[in-house]
Amino acid sequence: MSYGTLLKGKRGIISGALNDQSIAWKVAQQAHAEGASFVLTNAPVAMRMGEIKKLAESTGANVIPADATNDVDLEKLFAEAQQHLGGKVDFVLHSIGMSPNVRKGRSYDDLNYDWYKQTLDVSAMSLHRMLQAAQKGDALNEGGSVVALTYIAAQRVFPDYGDMADAKALLESITRSWGYRLGRSKKIRVNTVSQSPTMTTAGAGIKGFDGFFGFAEAMSPLGNAPAEDCARYCISLFSDLTRFVTMQNLFHDGGFSTTGVTPEVMAKFMG
Ligand SMILES: NC(=O)c1ccc[n+]([C@@H]2O[C@H](COP(=O)([O-])OP(=O)(O)OC[C@H]3O[C@@H](n4cnc5c(N)ncnc54)[C@H](O)[C@@H]3O)[C@@H](O)[C@H]2O)c1
Repeated sequence: MSYGTLLKGKRGIISGALNDQSIAWKVAQQAHAEGASFVLTNAPVAMRMGEIKKLAESTGANVIPADATNDVDLEKLFAEAQQHLGGKVDFVLHSIGMSPNVRKGRSYDDLNYDWYKQTLDVSAMSLHRMLQAAQKGDALNEGGSVVALTYIAAQRVFPDYGDMADAKALLESITRSWGYRLGRSKKIRVNTVSQSPTMTTAGAGIKGFDGFFGFAEAMSPLGNAPAEDCARYCISLFSDLTRFVTMQNLFHDGGFSTTGVTPEVMAKFMG
């Protein structure tokens, strides 16, 4: 399902493609199919696995390593991206999340606070840092679009999501705050896409992920949204079809967020 021209002539930065399961990986493939040119970026440690090179080769992209918590790296990212792409950037995908507390199994009532700060920095403040670096370098084009990926744990409690819930709430707030400013200054829109549980490295790192996944599947009239479809939604937000959508948290979840109960879930409680 490709139109071939939705992003024709647009230049972008896509973060977070770790392997072929990553949501960002699918966004890159579809952005390429829709005629965009872009650079790929990820943390220097993520480069060691080398997977990203394959994606870069198949999409004609350059790779620029940048730790999303490092302002010098981010300023360099936006400067080099413009050189590689030959102009200002039209779209940015923030697809970055990591909690040392979740990774190491620390529950919400036993957080390591240094790790908590890291969770917030990597998963939320990094969007602020990216956009501040972009603005300082005047790197974004008039009418551009920024999308960050989030999860419904920002609004509702999912106990094992731990401190990532707080990071997602902050990410969604930063989205609105920058959306206001960039909307006024350059008609740039900034939105979050709140995605269904998805089998990726970050997803599988959550304790009881199978439970999350199965429950959401049973509670969504359309079923869980696959990563490929999340990518399609991101492409629509980068395209000119959505020029007046901004400062929103957009659920891409098969209807999960507004479903009260389903027969599948009720059946578990009926005699
Ligand atoms: N998988 C899910 O169930 C799910 C659901 C909703 C939202 N999301 C969100 O989607 C986004 C992408 O995750 P994914 O599921 O594709 O998993 P993923 O593990 O493939 O992607 C996460 C990426 O974050 C990158 N990253 C971590 N620390 C970084 C740093 N300091 N600097 C730069 N990059 C860094 C990783 O290298 C990796 O590429 C995340 O924000 C995640 O929270 C995922």
